[in-house]
Amino acid sequence: MVSMASEAQTGTGRLLVVDDEEPQMRALCDTLSAEGYVTAGFSSPQSALAELSHASYDLLLTDLMMPGMDGISLLAAARRVDPELVGIMMTGHGTIDTAVRAMQAGALDYIQKPFRLKAILPVLRRGLEIRRLRTENSELRFAQATIQRLNEELERRVRERTRELEVANQELALANQDLESFSFSGSHDLRAPLRTVREFCGIFLEEHGKDVPVEGRALLGRVQEGGARMSQLIEDLLAFSRFSRQPLQMNPVAFEALVRRLVEELRPKDATVDVRIGALPDCHGDASLLEQVLSNLLSNAFKFTRKTASPRVEIGSSRQGPELVYYVRDNGAGFDMKRADKLFGVFQRLHPASQFEGTGVGLSIVQRIVQRHGGRVWAESVPGAGATFYFTLAPP
Ligand SMILES: Nc1ncnc2c1ncn2[C@@H]1O[C@H](COP(=O)(O)OP(=O)(O)OP(=O)(O)O)[C@@H](O)[C@H]1O
Ligand SMILES: [Mg+2]
Repeated sequence: MVSMASEAQTGTGRLLVVDDEEPQMRALCDTLSAEGYVTAGFSSPQSALAELSHASYDLLLTDLMMPGMDGISLLAAARRVDPELVGIMMTGHGTIDTAVRAMQAGALDYIQKPFRLKAILPVLRRGLEIRRLRTENSELRFAQATIQRLNEELERRVRERTRELEVANQELALANQDLESFSFSGSHDLRAPLRTVREFCGIFLEEHGKDVPVEGRALLGRVQEGGARMSQLIEDLLAFSRFSRQPLQMNPVAFEALVRRLVEELRPKDATVDVRIGALPDCHGDASLLEQVLSNLLSNAFKFTRKTASPRVEIGSSRQGPELVYYVRDNGAGFDMKRADKLFGVFQRLHPASQFEGTGVGLSIVQRIVQRHGGRVWAESVPGAGATFYFTLAPP
């Protein structure tokens, strides 16, 4: 092997020179390295191939006719090692036909011996330019393939995750359905025996009340009160269950008209509440369920301002991006924000029944209905200064 690089070499290319006539090969290597190329010369095609398997070259400049392995076979074997390698054949006189065959077999060009330096250099430059393009191309192809592989992997993971979520959602929906049908049938089945207890207690008091000592009557009175309370809880649970299950009938809803009607129905007759109704655009939803939402929020607002000197209830809205945010604000008792996470739970109350009556189901119904409409509900409050309940809905 002969390996050379000139002082002035600026990385113009690495050439593998193969010629069975050693003096010619050496002369060519000398000339080309004087031109700035890095050259490695071999007089046997096999040792050239061995060199290629552990070092990288840009261009193979090989004799066409060699004993053992001709230039065409050498180039084919070399391209199996480095598919982007550029091959140039050196031919003697009378072998032009074979040179054409060499090009058909993948050689880029051929030069005829004996050659002048002026003739080789442009061929080499073009060969090296093609090598550069081939390498860039293959890097691009590699990058493209990598991106495609990453994309496919990402898509596969997204599909997998979506499937997992769908399964989890289905399981959750089934569990919810079970829970809801249990609470519905449970509450429903409790009604009849409770009615029996209350009715027989009433009949007993009516028919035998006078024979019962006063303390005994008081105890029976407590039984009746407890029964009435339980009956209210059951009715509320059934309402909650109904509002959770009733199919949605989505239509444009005239929100302001609905609010005005409900305010008139619900405002306390024995007190003057300053009710302010702001801009209330129409929304898209189930009118009867949204009526329930507003009715529960307004009832709360009127209830929790009952002990306020100048009660005020305000209903308004604002637009936040694609969402409509409605609010019901009052200046009543308010609540401690530390307990705000309890507000929307079934039977959760932040005020004792001795101050404000109720079963603690109203807001859980509000939340369930708003969520079924794809919206959110939340509250802000300062104890003693009032509360604001917000909920979002889609515009029509
Ligand atoms: N406007 C409000 N101001 C202050 N506290 C409120 C207000 N609205 C709700 N709350 C608090 O949240 C609790 C839960 O409200 P929710 O409407 O679910 O139940 P309730 O009004 O007590 O009973 P129900 O609505 O079932 O008759 C209330 O008991 C109260 O402590
Ligand atoms: Mg309520």
